Amino acid sequence: MKAILIGLCLIILTAGCVPAASTSQPTAVPPSPEPSATSAPAVTASPEPSATPAVPTQTPFIITESERLAYERNERLGRGVNLGNALEAPNEGEWGVTLEEGFFDLIHEAGFSSVRVPIRWNAHAGDKPPYTVDPAFFARVDWVVEQAMQRDLAVILDWHHYVEIMEAPMGHHDRFMAIWEQIAEHYKSMPDTVYFELLNEPNGTIGATSWNKFVAEAIQIIRRTNPTRTIIVGPGNWNSIGNLYDLLLPPDEHNLIVTVHYYQPFQFTHQGADWAEGSEAWLGTKWTGSPAEKSAVGRDFDAALKWSRQNHRPIFLGEFGAYSEADMESRSRWTEFIARSAEERGFSWAYWEFCSGFGVYDLANRKWNEPILTALLP
Ligand code: BGC
Repeated sequence: MKAILIGLCLIILTAGCVPAASTSQPTAVPPSPEPSATSAPAVTASPEPSATPAVPTQTPFIITESERLAYERNERLGRGVNLGNALEAPNEGEWGVTLEEGFFDLIHEAGFSSVRVPIRWNAHAGDKPPYTVDPAFFARVDWVVEQAMQRDLAVILDWHHYVEIMEAPMGHHDRFMAIWEQIAEHYKSMPDTVYFELLNEPNGTIGATSWNKFVAEAIQIIRRTNPTRTIIVGPGNWNSIGNLYDLLLPPDEHNLIVTVHYYQPFQFTHQGADWAEGSEAWLGTKWTGSPAEKSAVGRDFDAALKWSRQNHRPIFLGEFGAYSEADMESRSRWTEFIARSAEERGFSWAYWEFCSGFGVYDLANRKWNEPILTALLP
């Protein structure tokens, strides 16, 4: 399919074209509890309403040869899972998850093709120049990368929960750049299945203009040591689809994947989540998969697809999930619909998350949360 499409496009324009992100297979089992400590993710803005979800997708569209690499790398991410609540806790283990070798076996054997690893680099680096990253922490992340690579899982190193930079961006500018410089240097020899994600869910006082500047500068720094590394970056306002048009990326830099997160309807996905204010009142909210509910998702994803095609940037749905307080039928129905809706549009994805409050894996009982797993990997 891919070869045919690419060939076709080459004939048309000495250019490439982009098939949907690849898929893989499943396995299976029940639910898990546990909240994840953190700051409150805002209710993400839904893009403007429109007609019915058209699912334009499979139609090839033209990209240039230099744009092709990012699409191929996005396809490699395929279907993934976030190793949440581990390395982005202030210290690993404090939020109930310490990564184990066996997790990587499970994830690989289930049929996932990638892992996104949220990492709180800022908790493991000096406060003053040269902002040295703790070598022991680097060693721990190295182990994670190694485990993933041994199982043919692509791995995203995602800088997560840099809360201080959201509050005072300029006060943390130099530190952010210096830490990226070290990460880039440290992983420069890794294969191209290692990806860098600049910053999870920019929010707070980082406005679009300053975020765009941070992105451009960080990319420049990373490129000095990693000329071909694929970098993942998302829009402000918690990586909302509705903020994609504010994201202005360096036009001559093509090896980028753009990430968005999706938790709509928020009152469904975050019911009973203690970090989402007022969420007790949402308990009992169902997602029935009605035409109206599906159309709402379709409109949002079509808006992301439209932006993607206009800007020639592939999309990675880096987080989506429904919290364990929601009823299981609704959760699995929603999860399946979101995953398929992403795939139909050629987005790669990573479920939030592996074994905590949204878990596809039930850590307490050491078994897959089957309805979620089969929803993700049918
Ligand atoms: C946060 C998590 C949270 C999730 C859902 C993530 O970006 O880092 O702590 O559980 O969003 O709200």
